[in-house]
Amino acid sequence: MATLTVLAAVGLIVLALADDTLQETLADNLRELPLPSFVGIQLVDSAFIQDTWQFFRREALQKRTFWVLAAVLVAYELYKLLVKPLRVVRRLEDRGYVPDQDESTLKDTAADVARRRQRGDLPPVYPNGWFRICDSGDLAIGEVKTFTLLGESIAVFRGENGTVYAVEAYCPHLGANLGIGGRVIDNCIECPFHGWTFRGDDGKCVRIPYAKKVPEIAKIKPWTILEVNKLIYIWHHAEKCEPDYLPEEIEGIVDGSWRCHGFSEHMINAHIQEVPENAADVAHLSHLHGPFLIQGVDLRYTNKPSVTSALRHGWSAEWSALPAPEAHIGVLNLSHYLTVFGFRVPGTTIDVEARQIGPSIVHLHFDHCIFGKGVLLQELSPVEPLLLKMTHQVWGSPWMPSFIGKLFLWGEYHQVERDLMIWNNKRYVSKPMLVKEDELIGKHRRWYSQFYSENSPRYTAARTSLDW
Ligand code: FES
Ligand SMILES: [Fe+2]
Repeated sequence: MATLTVLAAVGLIVLALADDTLQETLADNLRELPLPSFVGIQLVDSAFIQDTWQFFRREALQKRTFWVLAAVLVAYELYKLLVKPLRVVRRLEDRGYVPDQDESTLKDTAADVARRRQRGDLPPVYPNGWFRICDSGDLAIGEVKTFTLLGESIAVFRGENGTVYAVEAYCPHLGANLGIGGRVIDNCIECPFHGWTFRGDDGKCVRIPYAKKVPEIAKIKPWTILEVNKLIYIWHHAEKCEPDYLPEEIEGIVDGSWRCHGFSEHMINAHIQEVPENAADVAHLSHLHGPFLIQGVDLRYTNKPSVTSALRHGWSAEWSALPAPEAHIGVLNLSHYLTVFGFRVPGTTIDVEARQIGPSIVHLHFDHCIFGKGVLLQELSPVEPLLLKMTHQVWGSPWMPSFIGKLFLWGEYHQVERDLMIWNNKRYVSKPMLVKEDELIGKHRRWYSQFYSENSPRYTAARTSLDW
């Protein structure tokens, strides 16, 4: 739409600015254009073309049309800025890599870095907890999709009762993928290959179209599902334990009074623990996230002197774990402000409470004195042992202007893209060399270890199950 409008506007500007000689040349070219015909009947004759041309050559009409198109274009851009939610989806190679000297593509670089880098003494690769699999809006009633999460293929569908179900994607009969061509019948999923039909809630096979009897053992692995805050989560526990915590409900999202202003998605090549550990790594804030956002996300340049070097982001932060029964929650209280030549700029302070709920969910609650309350939902989904999908969604109170919500999201994901360059290329250090001021990192590691259990999969085992 925007491209068409721009093209039309450019065409009219050319026409409006063209002098008579140029307009005559254009008219000559038009006369020579092949005219459309249908079964031998001329649909448009040259007189019609000439009349139309003369009509559009009228200066007043050109000007009016130009202004109308310009207004449409401006209105569309305003709509995008003020109303339409922001949507940013980055592939793995889009951010966080420095190209090799041999001019290979960033995609090759990303693959090379992943293959060559030292991984370090990694903790288990999949902690126990809730993981976002998709958004509520991604699944209509009767719709089924396949997702890869925790190294597994999972078929997720919304039954006719509106409830979301998830089962292992591969059919136990002959291995067809239920999410590719499977059909939702009532609250069951029917395999596209021979029609075996499995119940969504317990995975039991309820129908084999060509068999007299359905064997007792015919069933598929069901996953525990939760739908909250317009997101769909699955529960993973290496010891098969039931959920021992729930993601917190955000009232404004659940009751429908808040609006979503944007979504971003990034792929990260790192161990899942590296990302939340950032919250307790207070020292990196000023060095990595201090340079003004205009300085970009490529760490080779962010700290280089430039015209905007005098402007910096200032941070003060404190991380702590909550006591039982909320021991699965870690809280980062963060204050952000801007500084010019080291002096704090009034009115730029934003206080954020980031609640890390379990190993993969962060709710960043912000409250601005003018624009009201909102929340950024950050979700980490381990696709494979060292491949994460990170998503952000920003929601705001009804009186929060959309562009403010989008500005929060833009600021957040740009700052995260700086971390990405570290995460994608680093080694996990199990015994880091810390100074006293880094003590929160140790506390965070002890806190995070509660999400691992005896049978939590290690890198090699999880990787081997993928290499077939
Ligand atoms: S493979 Fe699914 S019914 Fe045969
Ligand atoms: Fe960071």
